This record gives sequence, C-alpha cells and structure tokens, in this order.
Amino acid sequence: MPFVVTENCIKCKYTDCVEVCPVDCFREGPNFLVIDPDECIDCTLCEPECPVNAIYPEDDVPAGQEHFVQLNAELSKGWPAITVRKDAPADAKEWEGKPDKLKLLER
Ligand code: SF4
Ligand code: F3S
Repeated sequence: MPFVVTENCIKCKYTDCVEVCPVDCFREGPNFLVIDPDECIDCTLCEPECPVNAIYPEDDVPAGQEHFVQLNAELSKGWPAITVRKDAPADAKEWEGKPDKLKLLER
C-alpha cells in the first residue's frame, strides 16, 4: 500500500519529504510533488516529515481526496525524480491549509 501526496502540498511544496525516502520515489512538478506508487516501499518515513500533513497511506487518504491516489500514479510517470530538498515557494506559508487548491495544480 503506497503513500500518497494530497492537496495540501499544492503551492506549499516544502520538499522535506524527499530527503528521507530510501528508494527515491518522489517526483516533482511545478507546484506539487507526487509519490510513484510502483516504487514506494511503504516505509512510513516521509509521512511525519511534511509540515502541512499532506502525506497519507493510500488507505487513509482524507475523505474527498481519494482522487489523489490516481493523480499520484498518473503524474509520477511523467515528472522527474527529486531527492534533495529545495527552498519552498516564497508564498508557501500563505497557501497552507487553503481549500480547493486542486484547480491550481500545474502539470
Ligand atoms: Fe518513500 Fe517510504 Fe514515503 Fe514510500 S513511505 S514515499 S518509500 S519515504
Ligand atoms: Fe509537499 Fe509536504 Fe513534501 S508540502 S513537498 S508533501 S514536505
């Protein structure tokens, strides 16, 4: 059961999560990260690293965000790997916990 990045990552993209992944399965888009479900070994290390609690086990994704399971699978096939933390967007703090960020996702 892979882990999944959910809506709160959009436009926050803190990237603390990528440093701890032992199998380098994070993939980076313009304003969101995803986990490649075919690579994730379910180690749980990334989940507590995210300052905005955007990472969940597939079976525990918050209600209403189930579509992020498919979105991680889809986007991870086209986005490049990211393994080193980088600076978050300058306005990341303003976007923490904001609802309806899916429409702002850049592909
Ligand atoms: Fe990587 Fe482990 Fe997180 Fe899966 S659960 S994305 S293997 S750190
Ligand atoms: Fe996103 Fe949290 Fe990682 S905001 S980039 S899932 S640390």
